[in-house]
Amino acid sequence: MTSGPPMGWASWNTFAAKINYTVIKGQADAMASSGLKAAGYQFVNIDEGWWQGTRDSSGNITVDTSDWPGGMQAIADYIHGLGLKAGIYTDAGKDGCGYYYPTGRPAAPGSGSEGHYDQDFLAFSKWGFDFVKVDWCGGDKEGLDAATAYKAIASSIAKATAQTSRPMVLSVCNWGNQSPWNWAPAIATMWRTSQDIIYYGNAPEISKVFGNFDSAQHATAQSPGHYNDPDMLIVGMSGFSQAQNRTHFALWAISSAPLLAGNQLDTMSNDTKSVLTNAEVIAIDQDPLAHQGTKVSDDSGRQVYSKVLSGTNRRAVLLLNRSTSAAMITVRFADIGLGTTASVRNVWTATDLGSQTTSYATSVPAQDSVLLVVTGGA
Ligand code: GLA
Repeated sequence: MTSGPPMGWASWNTFAAKINYTVIKGQADAMASSGLKAAGYQFVNIDEGWWQGTRDSSGNITVDTSDWPGGMQAIADYIHGLGLKAGIYTDAGKDGCGYYYPTGRPAAPGSGSEGHYDQDFLAFSKWGFDFVKVDWCGGDKEGLDAATAYKAIASSIAKATAQTSRPMVLSVCNWGNQSPWNWAPAIATMWRTSQDIIYYGNAPEISKVFGNFDSAQHATAQSPGHYNDPDMLIVGMSGFSQAQNRTHFALWAISSAPLLAGNQLDTMSNDTKSVLTNAEVIAIDQDPLAHQGTKVSDDSGRQVYSKVLSGTNRRAVLLLNRSTSAAMITVRFADIGLGTTASVRNVWTATDLGSQTTSYATSVPAQDSVLLVVTGGA
């Protein structure tokens, strides 16, 4: 198991609110059997749609047991039985996103945790959940102060953990509103930095991948255990080419971003699996230093990003061509803090390109990228 940015799968991008025990079980089974678990993916995250906002007379959350036989504890138990971890979802406000933007189920009032923070996060922990994503639709509409609300939530989680001894990852999802990179690192494992990477039913767009990557650039906020979150992955969703899948995954990896797959795991192609399970790319993402790569040069959209890796004189480097025609892109070793000579490895092709002097240049197709590991002094 890795201890870097969280890795797993989340239900939203593929299923929207149309989830139940059978759907989640099917994807959890696929995560275990497909090789994703072996590659380091741990969390099976139940996003919006599990709860329609109902409570009993004591305020305890109630769910439809025809969708969730045995309640939410049963699915958490099932996920744990596969050797995986379980994630759940709520809103910081009174009414969740499913009330304001219903997607696959009727609009449900009351599907947020405001007024019940201690009670709900204790319930999640008792049910066995290891991760909770807290959305912001209600908080936003009500004009809540995000830092105040999420601090209260973090404190409810700490109280719950003190009772159950089960740590729970907090995923802050207020889309970069109210600058979460300034306050979330102290209280959360990850915080969203932008709007959604895809809206349900839309085709994936590489421009949204680039936009979310750009919005997540808050390198100084990041440290081991605390990550900018450019959103769940759309790798392997219908409409993306293999090159787009690789570029998207490489952008998240050079950022040390959480890797939460969003595609349908039980039907994914071998091509998609080969991207999601590439051990060298995952190692870049999970590098223990947890640095976020930063831009070191930009020639009209022909960009070079670099991040320091653990070890000696090692850098992950992404040559990203945002222009609309193929172009040579050069990484100058001086720009990434290395000396005159360095050995260069192309990560996706798993090819050692030998020792290079001063710089390395290669042709990058339009809207595409090349991911390298560059080791100085070799
Ligand atoms: C918001 C979040 C998404 C997803 C949906 C669910 O849009 O940003 O990631 O959780 O809500 O409605």
